Amino acid sequence: MGKIITFGGNRLYGSVRIGGAKNSVLPILAACMLSENDITLKNCPNIADVTNMLEILDSLGCHTEHEGDTIKVNAAKATGYAMQGNLSRRLRSSIFMLGPVLGRFGRASFLHPGGCEIGLRPIDMHLKGLEQLNVKIKEQSGRIECYTNGLIGAEVHLDYPSVGATENIMMAAVKATGKSTIHNAAREPEIEDLQNFLNANGFRVEGAGSGVIKIEGGRVDKQDNVEFSIMPDRIAAGTYMCAAAMTGGDVTLLNVNVSHIIPIISKLRETGCEISIIENDTVRIISAKRPDEIILTETAPHPGFPTDLQAPLFALCCIAEGTSVIVENVFENRFKHAAELSKMGAYSMIKGRTAIIRGVPTLFGTDVCATDLRGGAALVLAGLAAKGKTTISGTDHIDRGYELFVDNLRYLGADIMRL
Ligand code: UD1
Repeated sequence: MGKIITFGGNRLYGSVRIGGAKNSVLPILAACMLSENDITLKNCPNIADVTNMLEILDSLGCHTEHEGDTIKVNAAKATGYAMQGNLSRRLRSSIFMLGPVLGRFGRASFLHPGGCEIGLRPIDMHLKGLEQLNVKIKEQSGRIECYTNGLIGAEVHLDYPSVGATENIMMAAVKATGKSTIHNAAREPEIEDLQNFLNANGFRVEGAGSGVIKIEGGRVDKQDNVEFSIMPDRIAAGTYMCAAAMTGGDVTLLNVNVSHIIPIISKLRETGCEISIIENDTVRIISAKRPDEIILTETAPHPGFPTDLQAPLFALCCIAEGTSVIVENVFENRFKHAAELSKMGAYSMIKGRTAIIRGVPTLFGTDVCATDLRGGAALVLAGLAAKGKTTISGTDHIDRGYELFVDNLRYLGADIMRL
């Protein structure tokens, strides 16, 4: 397993281009299974999760090509409906294949993705929603077998606006007979990207971005070739902004969608950072002093503060003046970075879903271990702000979701390398 080494203290300066969103490209790759035309996806991030998703598509008989930030998929010859156990376990997002595979073949078989580093992550809402579209589901020794004699449109109400469940139901419903409505749907920008992609493929979906999504199933305007560009990664953008805030930096982010990053802009302004919106896709952050505390941050479904930026913001709070409080409302076990940060001299107390963080003037470099993707990024940020050398192991977690992370930070002036 690789390591990342940082020598903290350098101020980040310059500009960084944000790549395509991990959480958008993964469901969109799965949705490629729904069509038989040539699909070209642009602005795809080069990350391990994408490589794994392509492996899953290949294993189901799709033709895929990946060069630079462009991925081509043709699913015309796909025949597979059973996902290999090792592949579905390696990538939690393999769950996104469920809706499209059912839509295409009327059956799907896969291993329960199980819990992960940040929580139990059940899939009950995915399955309940699909059952309402006339899918029969059987679970045998961890393998889930799904079968339908024809998807039928339905009114689906989600108990909670789950991102993955909303996406899976959308992808199955486009192939159903008749209309479907998803009530209490997730409103994340990635859902809108998926809607736009489905519509580019001739399906009929509307309402994404609101809590009610309407799908007119079974009606497809056939397309020959589809070209689609993946939206910018709002979580990567927020992570670089936290890095700038923690290092007294002056960083310009290129290729962002400003409306997607308002929650993090607002929190970083509370810390005293100066943030200017230069264009709709360009933002500059200047941090001229030690950040002020952030009194209270509560993670919530979009448009609330994203749980995926909780760990980077946590790292920032560790060096802020005063005491900050973070409440993690989305995942039940998402504070593992706290124990690692405390090895660097951070001071925090966790009580259930609440973290109380008393900022210290300096963190000290030491050996720490990333246990999940965003927590790993938080450790790198802490390393950039700390005195001395920090060695971060478990970097395969970070590589799952951040494209060119080390290179970009080095380009901005960080003393950082891979081992
Ligand atoms: C997606 C994102 C992830 C992000 C999360 C919340 C992708 C690839 N991943 O994950 O980065 O952190 O949204 O913004 O897009 N839940 C259930 N039952 C279900 C489904 C979810 O109880 O059937 C619970 C989960 O355990 C969690 C909460 O609902 O506590 C939110 O999960 P969900 O919105 O589904 O997240 P994901 O789609 O897994």
